[in-house]
Amino acid sequence: MTASPRRYHITTFGCQMNKADSERMAGILEEMGFQWSEDPNDADLILYNTCTIRDNAEHKVYSYLGRQAERKRQQPELTLVVAGCVAQQEGEALLRRVPELDMVMGPQHANRLRDLLEQVFDGSQVVATEPVNIIEDITKPRRESKVTAWVNVIYGCNERCTYCVVPSVRGVEQSRTPEAIRAEMEELGRQGYKEVTLLGQNIDAYGRDLPGVTPEGRHQHTLTDLLYYVSDVEGIERIRFATSHPRYFTERLIRACAELPKVCEYFHIPFQSGDNDILKAMARGYTHEKYRRIIDTIRSYMPDASISADAIVGFPGETEEQFEKTLQVVGDIGFDLVNTAAYSPRPNTPAALWENQVSEEVKADRLQRLNHLVSIKAAERSQRYFGRIEEVLVEDQNPKAPTQVMGRTRGNRLTFFAGDINELRGRVVPVKITEVRAFSLTGKIAKE
Ligand code: SAH
Ligand code: SF4
Ligand code: F3S
Repeated sequence: MTASPRRYHITTFGCQMNKADSERMAGILEEMGFQWSEDPNDADLILYNTCTIRDNAEHKVYSYLGRQAERKRQQPELTLVVAGCVAQQEGEALLRRVPELDMVMGPQHANRLRDLLEQVFDGSQVVATEPVNIIEDITKPRRESKVTAWVNVIYGCNERCTYCVVPSVRGVEQSRTPEAIRAEMEELGRQGYKEVTLLGQNIDAYGRDLPGVTPEGRHQHTLTDLLYYVSDVEGIERIRFATSHPRYFTERLIRACAELPKVCEYFHIPFQSGDNDILKAMARGYTHEKYRRIIDTIRSYMPDASISADAIVGFPGETEEQFEKTLQVVGDIGFDLVNTAAYSPRPNTPAALWENQVSEEVKADRLQRLNHLVSIKAAERSQRYFGRIEEVLVEDQNPKAPTQVMGRTRGNRLTFFAGDINELRGRVVPVKITEVRAFSLTGKIAKE
């Protein structure tokens, strides 16, 4: 009799970076002979890939962990791993808090999962949070989608936004080489993937840690150069990138996006606040005027470009007047989407120690007012799609209506239409938009 295969379950919290790391860790586990278990309660190994961007994200992790720690007391052979940003932030303290854990591993260690687990299976309780040079990923990720894929281009962040925990949990910037990125994209193209999103917390920093300077004195490897370098990968029809930082966003990059047919007219550029004094206190390195100029320049090249952003309300010291400037930016620019959040004080960040904290009540009120405006504006932006024919890359079945498929426009709007997923998955289909909502569209296949 052969032993039944060991089963694993990964729960992922947080951003696209974490999702990409989870896919690589899943690939490593499958190479080790583990099989995916949909139900965590049937798994022999549970990995939580965690997020600590705000206090509520961190708390969610503890409540999940509590339940599995309880299960481990009945089932000692269960392996419990905490990876990601809470793991990095808490390190050994997490083992003291949840002694049932077998391993705590920071995001820089994701590609080392096999080695680390072998130490666990040899009987050690492992903490892997020291800074390392991230090794090139040689495993095959187990990707969620068959159509769209994340590709990391730069890990870490060297910025020091005063509210943000990311630099302390993700470490210093480490760019992958253009050759490694292109090779991964070529492999994706061969496997039938159609869309790639290039990922970095501050993707505009791409390449500044790589050697090489041009005769004009700029870094040889920039995001713009990278886009030109990967823009002809066979099979890949669409390229996106995130997240952009207004401080480093260049006209050269905008021109490349306008020029390269595969690069989508879609930009995710967080502005965080519409008030210059708040932006300064956040150490963002730009003014709202500069931000508006960037958007104007994008629209002068690509009038229909989709723009999304992140914003924070209730940063320490934010007055009602300053908050209204954030409303003003949202009112003026016409974003397709804004991810909003109430400021949350984070460990090891300067702003958490300031005395001028805004009350939770005021934060909640501002958040609600901002969200209201964001959805009104998004609905207005959606109107432009009405009656138009959009190219939709089909990703999946609509989980709520199996006779429909779903995909995205080049501008990243989720779109539903009637069709057979087996026939349409991975295809770019012209869709006539017949119904618009703030954050999604419905249409029907347009006759070509
Ligand atoms: N690198 C990106 C964003 C990374 S974090 C950038 O530079 O914009 C994603 C978003 O979470 C941020 O854009 C910010 O809006 C939000 N965020 C980060 N720290 C936060 C905090 N302490 N409280 C509330 N929101 C926060
Ligand atoms: Fe955080 Fe700022 Fe880095 Fe973005 S750029 S990850 S907000 S420190
Ligand atoms: Fe969260 Fe870490 Fe991403 S803190 S937002 S998972 S970088």
